[in-house]
Order: sequence, then structure tokens, then C-alpha cells
Amino acid sequence: MREGLIARFIDHLPFSKQDVVVSLLEGFTPLLHAPLLSERVGANVYLKLEGANPTGSFKDRGMTCAVSAAVRDGAEAVICASTGNTAASAAAYAARAGLRCAVLVPDGKIAIGKLAQTLMHGGRVIALKGNFDMALQMVRELAERYPIALVNSVNEFRLEGQKTAAFEVVEDLGGPPSALCIPVGNAGNITAYWRGFKEVGASPRMLGFQAEGAAPLVLGHPVENPETVASAIRIGKPARGEEAIAAVESSGGAIRAVSDEEILAAYKMMAVKEGMFFEPASAAAVAGLMKYGAEGAETIVCVMTGRGIKDQQTAMEHHSGKIIQCEPEMNELMRAVLR
Ligand code: F0G
Repeated sequence: MREGLIARFIDHLPFSKQDVVVSLLEGFTPLLHAPLLSERVGANVYLKLEGANPTGSFKDRGMTCAVSAAVRDGAEAVICASTGNTAASAAAYAARAGLRCAVLVPDGKIAIGKLAQTLMHGGRVIALKGNFDMALQMVRELAERYPIALVNSVNEFRLEGQKTAAFEVVEDLGGPPSALCIPVGNAGNITAYWRGFKEVGASPRMLGFQAEGAAPLVLGHPVENPETVASAIRIGKPARGEEAIAAVESSGGAIRAVSDEEILAAYKMMAVKEGMFFEPASAAAVAGLMKYGAEGAETIVCVMTGRGIKDQQTAMEHHSGKIIQCEPEMNELMRAVLR
């Protein structure tokens, strides 16, 4: 029987065999070779398909740990601020654990699929008239005053769970990659990967990518009104920013910016040429790789953080497919198919 990631990596995680864990069998996501991208940049490029996790994003790795710890600590409710994926994941794991879940999201600014997921799991969605950074600030204050477990990546258990992706990459490749390309929002995931790599003695160059309109770690200062098509990483004050900078510096990597045009070009290329549909934030990692090239790296892993179907609106606005209206009449059908 397949087991969840806490059971599988228990020796590396702050849990014991006696702990009751909340798992949806997250982790163990495929590492897919990307032939076209490899040819483009002249290196062996692999995609870590984190959308294969139960709720369709990498957040489930952290959430199995954060929610299991919350249950162990006797919590009755969990809360988070979110650009969408954390909300969906928190709601799913809370449902599984029988906990209440509240999420604070920027009103009207999260992808519809993520909102639907959160609501389906019975989450209480609070639509804030403000951005993600304000939402995070507010839930942090609330969690200090009330006994509600905060499950954003400021929670250590989240990073502990997410670091396991680095173990899998090294295991699947039979050694560390030369570089890891990863989108950066609140900067928890890049911090977690670096932690995981260090624990197994690996040291790939960490290459983080932010969207140009939401690039505080590139600019060196917070961004008051972050803007980008990649709503998942529309973040101006990353909570794990300092750790992310430390990670890229010790690994000889960098955090750089990619424009929305570059993100959308990568988003479309991955769907049309590699047959993989990721959300725009995930495409930022590929956009960065295409923009800056392999820079001498032989093996590169791009972390594809979430599934494309979560964000139908962006897909409908930017796809290169066709919808052709057709009357139920054979000649018309032939024209529609063959023209
Ligand atoms: N990719 C996707 C699809 C995300 O949802 C996020 C973050 C990131 C990348 C960036 O990861 O924040 O650890 O640097 N989403 C959070 C959320 C903020 O609320 O779902 P990070």
C-alpha cells in the first residue's frame, strides 16, 4: 500500500510513529522529462509535477504536516491567508481531520478553481478588500489572540513537509540536479527545498523567479501594490524573504524577475508543445529558465507548483485553441473540421 509523505519520511520529520496523521496520500509526484525545453536550453530539463498532489498543488506536502500537528496540539480550527492554493489545501485537510477552516483571500483576486475547491471542502471564505500581504498580517494577529492554528508557511510544519520534494528529486535523479528553477511568492517553498537539499548533502543552484510586478526580492524592498497575471504569486512582502535570499546566496543562485508576457509565453508553450497544463505561477519557473538559459547547468529541475485547470479564466483568455459553432448538419460539420 502506498503511504503518505509523513509515514514515508518519518525519520526526517518532527513526527513519531505514534502520532495520528492526516494524509490524503500527498507527495511522490512524477519527475517528467521535458524534451522540447531541454533542447531549447541545451540541458536535461525535468519537471517536478507538484500538481499531481491531491488538491492539485505543492501545498499538500506542507498541509499534511501542519494539519497533523494542529490535531496533535488539540486545535479545533485552522486559518490561513491565501492567493488560493493554500486555501484549497487547508480546507481539504481540515475536512479530512474534522476541523473547521477559515481562509482570508484578496476579494475577487483568486482563481475560480481554487475558490470552488475551498468552498466544496466546506471552508469559510472571507473575501478581504485588500491584498494577500494585508491578509497574512491580519491572520497572524488573529492567531496570536485566539487558539486557531495558523497554517501559512510561517508555520514551521509547512516547510518541514515541503522540504520532502527535494528528497524525491535527488532520489529520482539518483543525485542532485545542477540547478532548481522555482517560482517565488511568499518564499516558503524555495526555503523548504533548500532545507531539504541540505539535509541530504545536495547543493543545486537555487534559481527563484518572481513576476516583474510582484518582485520584492529582486528589488530589495516590499511592493505595496503587487500586480501580475500569475495571481498565486501576487505578493509584495514575502514572509520567508530573508531565508529565501540566504538560500540562493549559499547555493550560488539568484532570484530574478520575469514579465507577464514571458510568463504567458511559457504557460502556452508548456501546454502546446510539452502537453502539460500548469498554472501561470508555475510557468514563471520555465519563463525564467528560457530567459536566462541553462547557464552551464547540465541537469535542471523546474518545480511546476500547480495545475492549470485551477485557473480557467486565464486559460480562456490566452489559449490558442479554437471554438467553432456548428449546426447539426453534416456539410457544416465537415467545413468546421476540415477548414
Ligand atoms: N506557485 C503556486 C501555484 C502557488 O500557489 C504559490 C504560492 C507559489 C508558487 C509560491 O510559493 O509562496 O512558497 O513562494 N501560493 C500561496 C497560496 C501564497 O496562498 O496559495 P511560495
